[in-house]
Amino acid sequence: MSVLFALDAVTVSRGGRRILDGVSVTLEAGERLAVVGANGAGKTTLMRTLIGLEQAQSGSLTAFGKARRCERDFREVRAKAGYLFQDPDDQLFCPTVVDDVAFGPLNLGASQREAGALARATLARFELGHLADRITHRLSGGEKRLVSLAAVLAMAPEVLLLDEPTNALDEVHHARLLAILAALPTAMVIVSHERAFLQRLATRAVLLKDGRLQAALIHEHQHTHEHLHIHAGDPGHSHHGDPFAVPDDPWGS
Ligand SMILES: Nc1ncnc2c1ncn2[C@@H]1O[C@H](COP(=O)(O)OP(=O)(O)OP(=O)(O)O)[C@@H](O)[C@H]1O
Ligand SMILES: [Mg+2]
Repeated sequence: MSVLFALDAVTVSRGGRRILDGVSVTLEAGERLAVVGANGAGKTTLMRTLIGLEQAQSGSLTAFGKARRCERDFREVRAKAGYLFQDPDDQLFCPTVVDDVAFGPLNLGASQREAGALARATLARFELGHLADRITHRLSGGEKRLVSLAAVLAMAPEVLLLDEPTNALDEVHHARLLAILAALPTAMVIVSHERAFLQRLATRAVLLKDGRLQAALIHEHQHTHEHLHIHAGDPGHSHHGDPFAVPDDPWGS
């Protein structure tokens, strides 16, 4: 298996506080890695670190087979790893939707015509063709989220870094997103608070807590009703008794 990303003992501080404290993790080809953790745990910081938007104070980061340190190294990483920002307003900055979706391909060297055609084709694939000529900043929250996803996928990235991709989506679009992502062979890191989504999509999960990553489990419990459950722990454990009592459950369920 080829390793796409490898973080080794990475530490990142913000505002004088250690957000990531010696984090080590790898992403291999074909993996869909779920990252869970409480609000403020550092999940977005971790994603931003992967593409060099946050600088590590110590530790090392390897991406696509090379050690990455300086801005130039990370420019290459950003061309290969599609990052869906947690906030679509950080992602979208062009006047119209089609310009926003064409921006990535243009940046990667496509001609205006090619990029425009690719943008419209990608929007159509998401059944968003009707939004192509709309003014981006006047879209609804869910529409912005979907257009952001189209913008990321239009770049045909080798890795997808998705920061809360289902935020603001209705049931129909949620299901469509799930189907699209599940059909992609692309490796992904998925940050989400939505356990059902992760349970369907992720091949592995990690929990970020107190600046550190630990293996987590995604599985279902059956009791009076069925619910999905993620928490830190060893893969061999089992629950007899009250699953609500699990101490490290990031959702506290
Ligand atoms: N620019 C900044 N300067 C200082 N601290 C920051 C900055 N941005 C974020 N932080 C802090 O870093 C910590 C981690 O933030 P981060 O956005 O990575 O959390 P998160 O796990 O993604 O949370 P959420 O689930 O709410 O999105 C938080 O305590 C946050 O307040
Ligand atoms: Mg976040």
